[in-house]
Amino acid sequence: MKLKIAEVPGDGIGPEVVGQAVKAVDAVCRKFGHSAEYTMAYVGACAIDRFGDPYPEESHKICMDSDAVLFGAVGDPKYDNDPTSKVRPEQGLLAIRKKLGLYANIRPVETFKSLLYKSPLKEGLVDGADFVCVRELTGGMYFGEKGRRDNGDTAFDTNVYHRFEIERILKLAFEYAMRRHRHLTVVDKANVLETSRLWRQVAQGMEHEYPDVQTDYMFVDNASMQLIRCPKFFDVIVTENTFGDILTDEASCISGSMGLLASASIGEHTSLFEPIHGSYPQAAGKNIANPLAAILSAAMMFEYSFGLMEEGKAIRKAVAASIEAGIVTEDLASEGAKAYSTTEVGDWVAKHI
Ligand code: IPM
Ligand code: MG
Repeated sequence: MKLKIAEVPGDGIGPEVVGQAVKAVDAVCRKFGHSAEYTMAYVGACAIDRFGDPYPEESHKICMDSDAVLFGAVGDPKYDNDPTSKVRPEQGLLAIRKKLGLYANIRPVETFKSLLYKSPLKEGLVDGADFVCVRELTGGMYFGEKGRRDNGDTAFDTNVYHRFEIERILKLAFEYAMRRHRHLTVVDKANVLETSRLWRQVAQGMEHEYPDVQTDYMFVDNASMQLIRCPKFFDVIVTENTFGDILTDEASCISGSMGLLASASIGEHTSLFEPIHGSYPQAAGKNIANPLAAILSAAMMFEYSFGLMEEGKAIRKAVAASIEAGIVTEDLASEGAKAYSTTEVGDWVAKHI
């Protein structure tokens, strides 16, 4: 198969980790007889520097013309510390999500036996935890009307959801649950928010279409507690944009390192695959960042964009083997053991594939 991939490294550690994901993709292509063709596109602070726009039209065109987008991260501290900045790297990520219609963000949380001790939670609690967060990605407060009034002294962000936006993400989540352990938890704040009450109403109306799925409802504050109190309770979680953002960072500590969590964003146009960890500017250029989340995102790309399950599995097996063999970056290295560099881990995984 010929794979047309938009390579979007972005900022911070993005280029370093995407570089390792590309090595893994190339290794899989050699093994299974595919060919990958990459087109580089700029999104984030690097695009502001070059084009004055965090998601230039040129980059959008490349993404639209590709079969999949392999994404790194966006962000730069010089914008984080300046709340008055008119243009921000994160706008590039929001724009690419919106313009590609990527309404569903799928974030699997799984554990690796040999890394259980890295979790800040008790081993017995996280051992065997395995669930997926389905986060709505193009609605809610992120995209609702926002602004200032009263000379800037009052600020507002509007949380808006339309029925069709809720229906399509719930449909995807119900179907996902059907393919897993048939347990769906709808997370909302229906005791306070009108948007959440619409979510719950829509979900309750859809339940009868999926009689095999056990559906339950949880308020987001309670869910944030249950996630660390009994992570094994969950199979598929579905929630709105902001809640999903927060809960998935929280969930990442279950597996021991944020450097392990991959994601797929899917919807109307080209799907996008990105690690959830962000640009980690303190580590940029040091060759120390964990590339496994980016490499696992490439596995999701094979599975979701190309339906190539064996190829995805080959990457997953190599990642598991690297963890087993202790060929890991400093965030995962056990005390006293050697920590490998980003490129060493990438090379090892590619070779193993
Ligand atoms: C994420 C990130 C983004 C988000 C930021 C960088 C805009 O935190 O993908 O979770 O809030 O969605
Ligand atoms: Mg986030």
